[in-house]
Amino acid sequence: MKVFVTGGAGYIGSVTTELLLDKGHEVVVFDSLERGHREAVDKRARLVIGELRDAAQVQKAMLDARPDAVMHFAAYALVGESMQDPGLYFSNNVTGGVNLVSAMVKSGVPKIVFSSTCATYGYPERIPITEETPQNPVNPYGESKRMYEKILAWYQQIHGIRPVFLRYFNAAGATLRFGEDHEPETHLIPNVLKVALGQAASVKIFGTDYNTPDGTCIRDYIHILDLAGAHIRALSGGHTGPFNLGTGTGFSVREVVDVVRKVTGHTIPETVAARRPGDPDRLVAAAERARTVLGWNPEHSNLESIVESAWAWHQAHPHGYRKTA
Ligand code: UFG
Repeated sequence: MKVFVTGGAGYIGSVTTELLLDKGHEVVVFDSLERGHREAVDKRARLVIGELRDAAQVQKAMLDARPDAVMHFAAYALVGESMQDPGLYFSNNVTGGVNLVSAMVKSGVPKIVFSSTCATYGYPERIPITEETPQNPVNPYGESKRMYEKILAWYQQIHGIRPVFLRYFNAAGATLRFGEDHEPETHLIPNVLKVALGQAASVKIFGTDYNTPDGTCIRDYIHILDLAGAHIRALSGGHTGPFNLGTGTGFSVREVVDVVRKVTGHTIPETVAARRPGDPDRLVAAAERARTVLGWNPEHSNLESIVESAWAWHQAHPHGYRKTA
């Protein structure tokens, strides 16, 4: 298939592009390179530098590419930033997304696989989280993702587009070529690895008084190669609707830090810091729907394998993409 990948220069988009190409698909990456990296775009893909908020640019790129399907990764994804500048999130993640799906309608592209998030659930009442768990986002980032799911559902009803919403839990890990390079970096695993690389003196643990056995937050970490695999499964057939993507097993912040100690052989000093606003105690997926409907089975998401793959990438790219290009 020919796939139009927005955000193919970003973390999850770059790895999915690589896997699509490995499986013989053709890829056009549409990315502004504002937060993505040119070096993260697989050379076998065609890169179109463009801005989602510019409807005419998206429309032109879609008409030129004439893809069979769209995978939509491009978005702002910093919870803290969204609490300070919500407009940024609604204009990019929602208005940009409307431009994208409108261009699909005009070009007759029937299918979109959308990067949604467990952040759409907010503080869930029950764990594990199923797709039927009420979505009550607690920040503009999660709200922008939920709004776009709803917008796509209307385009399905009115224009017959087939949307799939992949609600990722905690994306982590790397392939040999592509890994995680955010600025600023807010995610736990790369921040712990920075300590192992000697780029930070200690890791900050944001809160040790949560309602969990060791007092630190529990998350469901999923390898980006497994996420990429789910996208490819979601492309085929008549699949539509939401799918949670997680392993069903949660690890606390302290458990993650311990695994990094084991994998890197570094002592990783820690500092206890205040809670980060908006962090729920536990986010763990019930991903049976993805298993039974998509036939998806995470193969790379053992926590130690995740950390090993991220560690290998960060050692090879100690300053991310910029300084290794
Ligand atoms: N944490 C630390 N120290 C750090 C970084 C994180 O203690 O230096 C803690 C956080 O407080 C949290 C846990 O580690 O308890 C995981 O934090 P991440 O930032 O790695 O990931 P989140 O769980 O906050 O991710 C959430 C959602 C995703 C969403 C993402 C947006 O789970 O679906 O926010 O970036 F996409």
